[in-house]
Amino acid sequence: MSRKTYGFGIVGCGVIAPTHAEAIRRLENAELRGVCDLNEEAATALAGEYGAQAYTDLAEMLARDDIHVVNILTPSGLHAKLGIQCADAGKHVICTKPIDITLEAIDSLIEAGERNGVKIAATHQNRGYPVYEKIRDYIDSGRMGRMLYGNAFVPWYRSDEYYSDGWHGTKALDGGGALINQSIHYIDLLIWFMGNVDRIFGFADALDHDIETEDMGTAVLKFADGTHGIIQGSTCTYTGMPARLELHGTRGNVVTVGDDIALWDVEGDERIEDPMAGKKGGAADPKAGMPEHAVVSHVKQIGDVLTAIEEGRDPVLDGREARRAVEVILSIYEASETGQVIEL
Ligand SMILES: NC(=O)c1ccc[n+]([C@@H]2O[C@H](COP(=O)([O-])OP(=O)(O)OC[C@H]3O[C@@H](n4cnc5c(N)ncnc54)[C@H](O)[C@@H]3O)[C@@H](O)[C@H]2O)c1
Repeated sequence: MSRKTYGFGIVGCGVIAPTHAEAIRRLENAELRGVCDLNEEAATALAGEYGAQAYTDLAEMLARDDIHVVNILTPSGLHAKLGIQCADAGKHVICTKPIDITLEAIDSLIEAGERNGVKIAATHQNRGYPVYEKIRDYIDSGRMGRMLYGNAFVPWYRSDEYYSDGWHGTKALDGGGALINQSIHYIDLLIWFMGNVDRIFGFADALDHDIETEDMGTAVLKFADGTHGIIQGSTCTYTGMPARLELHGTRGNVVTVGDDIALWDVEGDERIEDPMAGKKGGAADPKAGMPEHAVVSHVKQIGDVLTAIEEGRDPVLDGREARRAVEVILSIYEASETGQVIEL
């Protein structure tokens, strides 16, 4: 029996769009049929490259019966609003990170999915990198022992030009700066490994850019099981250094630098120490294009949504799962503004 082919639409044809278009192209049961952008040139260029129809009016694209899933790749503060429009048109929705920038918007999107019987999902590609899948497997199976503490450091750089495009670094469309746009990749990993956050204190400030949000954020966390964590993320670390994750359990310590293993010191395993870890990138240029492993991870996560539709289950990275990182980040902002420890 031949498998159903799912028709896809993309809304927002900017920097991240080719990664999703390529991932859809690689899925044997998916076909990119429509792409929509307010900027006609952007829509036409992506449509031409991937053999899809270009739209500037989302309602027109949503009227197509042969589009079943829509990937929302616009500025972050529009994800839920556009996602709800798609869900109300009966389409499954996949948002890039962050799923949106307020919990109210995210909850409305999740509710729209339930109301319309469609899936609401997100992409957080780092979860699909083999190194992080391996760490998660070790933690889940108890090979790291009992987790004690975990830290995420994201010392990246973005230029003044990057913040002058009208949406990056704005409260209305980015919802924040370095934490919600960039560090979210590693904050999501940290809570995926360590579990829910119970209490959080932090600071978020603009130290080296003229923006209304932060280019520097620092937070101290207590996880629900009593373990500890630190988050430090920036976009003012000239000219950018690789992100670093440190995970410590009673039977092992693992450190990644730039998504490579820098230290693997787990009971029963051969010890690895790699001083060259992370030497390949500092993630300073967001327009440089996604590495192959990031495209492969998008294939997995978008593919999981199609499998979820067929199996009648929730996607692994559904709306509620994607909401968790946003909740932590918004709590850091609240702590910074109020000077209070925030309880989640
Ligand atoms: N997963 C990742 O690693 C990754 C990387 C980059 C960006 N992102 C996310 O992708 C999203 C977009 O970021 P980007 O860097 O591609 O931005 P971008 O500015 O390059 O592109 C956004 C596009 O959306 C279009 N747009 C804006 N409002 C629209 C509307 N109402 N309807 C249709 N199109 C509209 C703009 O014209 C623009 O072409 C953000 O949420 C960002 O956080 C994720």
